[in-house]
Amino acid sequence: MQSFSETILSWYDTYGRDLPWRRTRDPYAIWLSEIILQQTRIAQGQAYWERFLAAWPDVRALAAASEDEVLRLWQGLGYYSRARNLHAAARQIVAAGSFPDTLDGIRALKGVGDYTAAAIGSIAFGLPAAVVDGNVYRVLARHYGIETPVGSTAAKKEFTALAQSLLPAGRPGDFNQGMMDFGALQCTPAAPPCAICPLAASCVALATGRVEGLPVREKGPAVQTRRFDYVYVRFRGRTAIRRRGPGDIWTGLYEPLTNSHSGLDPESLTLLKSNVKHQLTHRTLLVDFYLWEPAEEPALPEGYFWIEEAELDRYAKPRLFELLLASLP
Ligand code: ADE
Repeated sequence: MQSFSETILSWYDTYGRDLPWRRTRDPYAIWLSEIILQQTRIAQGQAYWERFLAAWPDVRALAAASEDEVLRLWQGLGYYSRARNLHAAARQIVAAGSFPDTLDGIRALKGVGDYTAAAIGSIAFGLPAAVVDGNVYRVLARHYGIETPVGSTAAKKEFTALAQSLLPAGRPGDFNQGMMDFGALQCTPAAPPCAICPLAASCVALATGRVEGLPVREKGPAVQTRRFDYVYVRFRGRTAIRRRGPGDIWTGLYEPLTNSHSGLDPESLTLLKSNVKHQLTHRTLLVDFYLWEPAEEPALPEGYFWIEEAELDRYAKPRLFELLLASLP
């Protein structure tokens, strides 16, 4: 009988997805794909990966770009610290003279954690490091009948050790990507097609009726709701924006006036949309959009500056700001 790893590899050879970053050995292109795919689905991330490579075909070109340019091309992907770290890491790599080819060296790049270091190391350099993501937890929890709640430190240790012990020496990158694809296509979260699964004969969850119940989840923190207003000021064909400083979200992106600013005259405010919902990982944002057309040129709060409305395209914006623009008369 084939071992678990042999089964994953031969399944991957037949059913693995044909993705563009799997056709290159260029560590820069592979690194870029892994950063994009950290929090983005393949269907959306692929177009961005292609645009980034077209704009900056190698790490030197990316390092020579400005942070604003990188943020602008990243616009729409969310989790913008990824873009800032990507840019900083490009400069780290150029300063070091070459792309790091050890796990520690890759792990030292900004924006690269254990998961991403294992992915890049195994895929680009054949390093023996197992990737452990949600797919891997699910496949292993089911196949081996593991009840440890995922999300705990104990689970991370246990699943990492198990995945590491299963890693085939010759093809670590293919095994890791095989596990990702197997979790995404065969051992799916809901209603997996176990009848056609090549691991059915050895799957503990299937044998014991626990496929739906595994993996066991720990309850996450409650999602909080936060409300605020976005105020688009329009005065003689210009509007006012500011660049967000370091903080909780959207660092480096540009935003319109918000309700935290005094001096808004209710008479000249028009409500455009209320309760626009935007979901972040641990927070739900509920936002009201206003248009403010003051009769006199208003003084701007700290950090804000005027731009021609036609120049808005040049600034990287959170998706919510784009929605505000789309709702303008
Ligand atoms: N998600 C993260 N890395 C990936 C990869 N290399 N292939 C498919 N999905 C991924």
